[in-house]
Amino acid sequence: MTERLESRAKVTGEARYAFEYPVGNVAYAAAVQASVGRGEVTSVDTEAALRLPGVLAVLSCDDAPRLDGDAQGELALFQSRTVSYRGQFIAAVVGETLETAREAARLVQVEYAQESPDVRLRTDHPGRYKPDKVNPVFPPDTGQGEPDTAFDDSAVRVDVTYTTPAEHNNPMEPHTTLADWSEDGTLTLYDSTQGSSTVQSTIARVFGLGKAQVRVVAPHVGGGFGSKGSPRPSVVLAAMASRATGRPVKFAVPRQQMFATTGYRTPTIQRLKLGADAEGHLNAILHDVVEQTSTVQEFAEQTATPTRVMYRAPNRRTSHRLVRLDVPTPSWMRAPGETPGMYALESAMDELAVATGIDPIELRIRNDTDRDPESGLPFSSRNLVACLREGADRFGWGGRDPMPGIRWEGRKRIGMGVAASTYPAYMSPNQATARAEPDGTFTVRIAAADIGTGARTALTLIAAETLKEDLRNVNVEIGDSSFPKATVAGGSSGTASWGTAVVRACEALRGKLNGAVPPEGLEASADTAEELKGRDEYARHAFGAQFAEVEVDADTGEIRVRRMLGVFAAGRIINPMAARSQFIGGMTMGIGMALLEESVMDEEFGDYLNRDLAQYHVPACADVRDVEATWLEESDPHLNPMGSKGIGEIGIVGAAAAVGNAVHHATGIRIRALPITPAKLLPDL
Ligand code: MOS
Repeated sequence: MTERLESRAKVTGEARYAFEYPVGNVAYAAAVQASVGRGEVTSVDTEAALRLPGVLAVLSCDDAPRLDGDAQGELALFQSRTVSYRGQFIAAVVGETLETAREAARLVQVEYAQESPDVRLRTDHPGRYKPDKVNPVFPPDTGQGEPDTAFDDSAVRVDVTYTTPAEHNNPMEPHTTLADWSEDGTLTLYDSTQGSSTVQSTIARVFGLGKAQVRVVAPHVGGGFGSKGSPRPSVVLAAMASRATGRPVKFAVPRQQMFATTGYRTPTIQRLKLGADAEGHLNAILHDVVEQTSTVQEFAEQTATPTRVMYRAPNRRTSHRLVRLDVPTPSWMRAPGETPGMYALESAMDELAVATGIDPIELRIRNDTDRDPESGLPFSSRNLVACLREGADRFGWGGRDPMPGIRWEGRKRIGMGVAASTYPAYMSPNQATARAEPDGTFTVRIAAADIGTGARTALTLIAAETLKEDLRNVNVEIGDSSFPKATVAGGSSGTASWGTAVVRACEALRGKLNGAVPPEGLEASADTAEELKGRDEYARHAFGAQFAEVEVDADTGEIRVRRMLGVFAAGRIINPMAARSQFIGGMTMGIGMALLEESVMDEEFGDYLNRDLAQYHVPACADVRDVEATWLEESDPHLNPMGSKGIGEIGIVGAAAAVGNAVHHATGIRIRALPITPAKLLPDL
C-alpha cells in the first residue's frame, strides 16, 4: 500500500496544472463556436470585438493563420469555411484578460450560408458504410461458421437490440493549454494531456516544426478518460494565438464548450443474437453494431471486439457500420468499444439466462473458453470463472431468487445482477533513462503521464524494486516531452508499457554500476521496441466479474445501487491502494452509464444540448453507496517483467450491464436503451 507520491503536493496546491504556470506577460484566448449545424461561414465581422480595449487579435477562417504543416481533421483549425457541426471552433479572440477575451468573443459577428444538419443516428441511414478498420487496428467484421443458419436452428434464441447514448467525458480539469511561442521559434506547451510525446509530435507536424522545437510539459493532469489521449483543436488554438500575438496564451476550454470540442463516446445501436441449446451452450453469437462518426474525420469505435473473445460458439459474427453525420467527431472514452459492447453482450447473456432458466453465472461458466474463440490463440491467463465464483461467494449470490420480480422491502423492489468484464492487456514500445546520482539517489525519466491514476507512484515502485532501493531514494520524473519518448496514458497500457522501459533502464543501470558513482552521475537508457517484437503469440486480456444489487422504488421508479462488487483478474497488482481506486472509479462511471449519463441531440439545431454537470449527470456521493473492488492474485509469465495487466478501464466494463440486469431482476422489466431512468421504467412498474 503506497500513498500516491504527489498527494501532498496536490492537496496543498503546490502541484501545478497547465493553467497555473507562472509565465509572465500572459494573454488569454476565448473561442467562438459555430451557431449552425452545417454550412459555410460567409463573413466574420471582427470590428466590434477589436474595438474592445485589451483585445489583441481575432483569428478566424476569414483571415486564417497558416498552419505551415500537415493539419488534418479536427486539428485543421480555421483552415476552411465549412461548418461541419454546431459548436465547432470557427474563431478565437486573444485579450489581455480572460474577461476581455470572453466578451470580445461574444462580439464577433459571424454570418453563415446555412444548411440543415443530419444528426440522427439510425440503422437505415442511406450513408451507412463499413469502415476499413475499427479503433485501433481491428477488422470491422469477423465471422466463423454459419451464424445466421445456426441461430435460426438453435433451441433457445435471444434476438435483441440495445442502444447506448452519446456520453461525454467530463474530467474535473477541462482541456487546457498554456502556449508560449518564443521569438527563437520554439514552442512550449503546458498542456493537460494524456501523452506529452504525442502532443509534441502532433503539434510539430501541424505547424511544420521540428520535434526539437516543441516541448510539452504536463506533470499533473486532472483527469482525461481518453478525451485527452489525442490533441484536441484547443491545443492548436492556443499555439496559433501565441504565435499571432507574440505572447504566451492560456486557453482552458470552458465546460460549456467541451461538449462539442473535446470528444465523446459515440451512441451505438447494437443487435445481439444468441442461439443456444436447452442447456445454455452457445451455438451462435451475432453482434452487429451501428454507430456514428463525423464528416471531419473518421472515428470507428471497436464496439463488438469484446464479443470476439468472451465466449465459445462455433458460429459467430461481429460487424461494425458507421454513419457519417454532421456531429463532432467521437473519440475515446474509458474502455472505448468494450464499455458499450459489453453492456450489450452481457445484457443479452442475462436474457439468455432467463430464457434457458439457467443461473447467469452458471451460463457464463458453461460457455467459458481456454482459447481465444476467433484467433484460436491460447490466453496468457484467463480467470473469468474464478472471478465469477469468488464474486458470487462474497456478494451472497447464493441467496438470490431464481425468478425476477419477487423480492420486495416495503415499497422497494430488490434485485441482483451480474455481468462479466474484460479488457485487452495492451503494451507499446517505450523509452526511459535511469540515473545514479552522486548523492546516492536515483532519477528515472520517461515522458509518461499521470492523469490521476497513480502512474507516477506505480513507476516509482517498479523502479525501486528493480534497483533494489528504498522508495525514498528513487525519483521518477514524468510528464515532459523532453524526457524519453512514451506512449499515451491510454488503452490501460501505461504501467505495462512505461513500466517495462523503466525496468529495462534500471537493469541496464545496475549492470553499469560498479562501486562509487562518478561526480557527474551514471546513466543508462532503454528502448523496448525490439523486446516487444519478440513476444510470443498469446491472447492477452484481463477479466472480471461485476455484481450489483439495486432497489427500485415501486411508486417513483427511482433506482438506487445499494451494493456493488467487482472481482478482477488483471495480472500482478503493483499498488493495491491506487488499483482499488481505479477499479471503483471505473465501476462508479459504470453506474453513471447505467442510470445517469446521456448527451441529448437536438435534432433541429444539431448539437448536444448538455452544457454542464447540472445537465450531464454523473454519479455523486449519494449515488455511490457501497462499491467495493477486489482481485485475484494472478501470475502470468507472458505479459511483461512486472506481470501486470492494465487496470484503468476494466472497472467500467460490464458495470452498466450488471446494474441493468439487477434492475430486471428486481422488476422483471428489461430496459434496452441506456440510461435506465425512472421515466423508462414507470410505465411498466
Ligand atoms: Mo483510454 S479511453 O484508452 O484513454
